[in-house]
Amino acid sequence: MTTYNIVTIDGDGIGPEVCQSAVQVLREACGADLLRFTAHDGGATHYQKTGQVLPPDTYEACRTSHAMLHGAAGLPGVTYPDGTEVGNDLHLQLRFKLDLFANVRPIRLYKGVKSPLSDWKAGQIDYVIVRENTEGLYASRGAGVVLRNELATDSLVITRKGVERVAKFALDLSRQRNGAPRDGKKRMTVCDKANILRSYAFFRAVCQEVAQGYPDVEMDYAYADAITVHMLKKPDFYDVIVAENMFGDIISDLGAGTVGGLGIAASAELGLAHGLFQGAHGSAPDIAGQDLASPLATILSGALMLRWLGNRHGDAALTSAADRVEKAVEDMLEKGDAVPHDQGGTARCSEVTAAVCKRLR
Ligand code: IPM
Ligand code: MN
Repeated sequence: MTTYNIVTIDGDGIGPEVCQSAVQVLREACGADLLRFTAHDGGATHYQKTGQVLPPDTYEACRTSHAMLHGAAGLPGVTYPDGTEVGNDLHLQLRFKLDLFANVRPIRLYKGVKSPLSDWKAGQIDYVIVRENTEGLYASRGAGVVLRNELATDSLVITRKGVERVAKFALDLSRQRNGAPRDGKKRMTVCDKANILRSYAFFRAVCQEVAQGYPDVEMDYAYADAITVHMLKKPDFYDVIVAENMFGDIISDLGAGTVGGLGIAASAELGLAHGLFQGAHGSAPDIAGQDLASPLATILSGALMLRWLGNRHGDAALTSAADRVEKAVEDMLEKGDAVPHDQGGTARCSEVTAAVCKRLR
């Protein structure tokens, strides 16, 4: 039996408690031998002590691991001289150095979770946002121009390779799913601003070229402004949405907001050979260390990690564990065993963790 080496980076704020909660749940789901967790340093707190947000030994461990599980990073006020946040740099360095080009954000309404959108029920909102994760406006991170304290620019970069691989990823993902809840159609929606900017018209054109090879997946197009309304009015229409980095960052939080918020929003950042998994929320320093945070986003990101590893290595023990973790979370929410604060309950991080583990047993 393979033992999978998982690097964990607790990070800052609530990062340690949610990451350690997810490790506890994954151990419960997989037993003692399937996963080997090794904790490594990184983030803003570590930077304050050492001047390194991503220490070389942590990066090397990530590069040679089977997968990475991260809590959260970033502390307000801990910034570089250019004003950008140090903590986020941990995340961004891993993305760019390991070429994690597909940022996968499942938007799924679980039983027991109330959507702020009236009348939508579990099963009716179930789509995935695939955000291109290594270029777009983020290509300018650390490279923007600031001139005489009176002008600043950041360029939006769209490459053929970048679009081809993320569009292929999104189309392949649609093929693996059961289609949009509304009509069961396998559908890829291209989110862009092709009506205004050539770079986005290029993004759309390359998506269309790739889609030629996927006659079984319906193509749909939505401008980044319009899709924010569609995601509220017809969330059941969506199956897979592909978007450039900046637009993907924005609509993935909107999507999370429609299915219970960032406290339950999982994310998987995937390259050809590496996967970084973490809750889509931030480090929430205001509630750090008080056992108040919800670990569900990180736990569900852990389930995404198990499924990704299971598919990559043909290991059914992992994919079935992923299913069991997701079911334990959904049953726990539906039965109300331990409802976290962000879902209207009073359960503490440790109580939610224990409730999910109990359901796994
Ligand atoms: C996200 C976050 C990150 C981003 C930050 C933490 C670097 O907002 O993953 O959505 O801006 O992409
Ligand atoms: Mn974001």
